[in-house]
Amino acid sequence: MSSTLNRKIALITGTNSNLGLNIAYRLIESLPSDTRITIIVTSRTLPRARESIDLINDFAKKHPREGIVDFDYLLIDFTDMVSILNGSYELSQKYVKLDYFFANSAQGVAADINWLQATKELCLNPVKGVTDPGYKMQKVGVKSKDNMGFVFQCNVFGPYYFIQKIKPLLSKDHGRIIWVSSIMSEPRHLSFDDLQLVNTTVPYEGSKRSIDLLHMATYEKLQKDHGITQYLIQPGIFTSFSASGSLNFFTYYGMLFIFYLARYLGSPWINISGYTAANAPVYAAVLANPTFDKQSTKFGSACYTDGHEYIKNQEVDTAGATDVLKYLDQLKDEWDEKLKDQITNSRQK
Ligand SMILES: NC(=O)c1ccc[n+]([C@@H]2O[C@H](COP(=O)([O-])OP(=O)(O)OC[C@H]3O[C@@H](n4cnc5c(N)ncnc54)[C@H](OP(=O)(O)O)[C@@H]3O)[C@@H](O)[C@H]2O)c1
Repeated sequence: MSSTLNRKIALITGTNSNLGLNIAYRLIESLPSDTRITIIVTSRTLPRARESIDLINDFAKKHPREGIVDFDYLLIDFTDMVSILNGSYELSQKYVKLDYFFANSAQGVAADINWLQATKELCLNPVKGVTDPGYKMQKVGVKSKDNMGFVFQCNVFGPYYFIQKIKPLLSKDHGRIIWVSSIMSEPRHLSFDDLQLVNTTVPYEGSKRSIDLLHMATYEKLQKDHGITQYLIQPGIFTSFSASGSLNFFTYYGMLFIFYLARYLGSPWINISGYTAANAPVYAAVLANPTFDKQSTKFGSACYTDGHEYIKNQEVDTAGATDVLKYLDQLKDEWDEKLKDQITNSRQK
């Protein structure tokens, strides 16, 4: 068991993403220098977990501090309930507390880009074209092997179920949960007849709207009953490793050009840099004080035209929050029942 004295333990899901890595870098910079920081990276694969550790370790070496930075990893696939349960079990066996949980991992089911529509939208209104694109086509009806809506399970239910299992660790020393949402989480993207997002053409945006509502429905009870502080953040727009991977030289630089143009035209959300995007999540984890920093708002990573960062809060429409929570809790009970014999302690008689 690990000592809890002057030590902060942070788990970042999807660590090997632009945002995940920069959350780790900024945590190292933001926590007091004499604090020992343990960063638990997660990935679906061991090579990517190792790669995250190497990158964060290189950063830590260039930013010397009194307290050490050490690492652990968990292999979790949030579209696989057995993997989620195993991950939570492994974590609970190894640690007595968790200080920060960043629900950062996410996946969409991109189909293609409608280039004609993209050209039209980006020429007519570059800011809207970047922050509320109508040209990104997504697959409809994709399900996980657990027979749930794929994006719903990956982005919403999987992390929610994991949190339910590790609540004792988070409540041990007033831990914090940071949910990563998006500026694209408009209420119109979620239908209450389709909470698993299988019939919608915008499952990714719908999953972010569900996250907003889930946060609004849970943060007060978490604070009151468990001493856990939960914040909702959105990182603005930045270069995503997964999205950039599918672009060629011309489309990548075309995207950057449009990003800078939208920022120049006055959008505060075009951070471009993953480091700037990680401002709000790390602020919410380390600096935000629930007495002054209202948990009922969404904390956004924003920047001025010259790229200087600041935090910008947004109100969240709460209509339907209790319905979303009720649905997720019912589903949680169902999966508790299905998985009840999954983990057995082989050392017990
Ligand atoms: N990019 C933007 O402009 C933007 C805007 C608004 C919000 N966001 C949000 O910011 C966060 C980070 O975005 P990003 O663009 O940096 O991420 P990204 O490059 O798309 O990477 C996503 C991460 O999620 C993990 N992941 C994907 N599917 C998973 C699964 N089934 N189980 C467990 N982990 C899984 C991946 O880890 P492995 O491959 O290692 O398993 C990967 O590290 C996401 O929540 C995203 O929705 C991004």
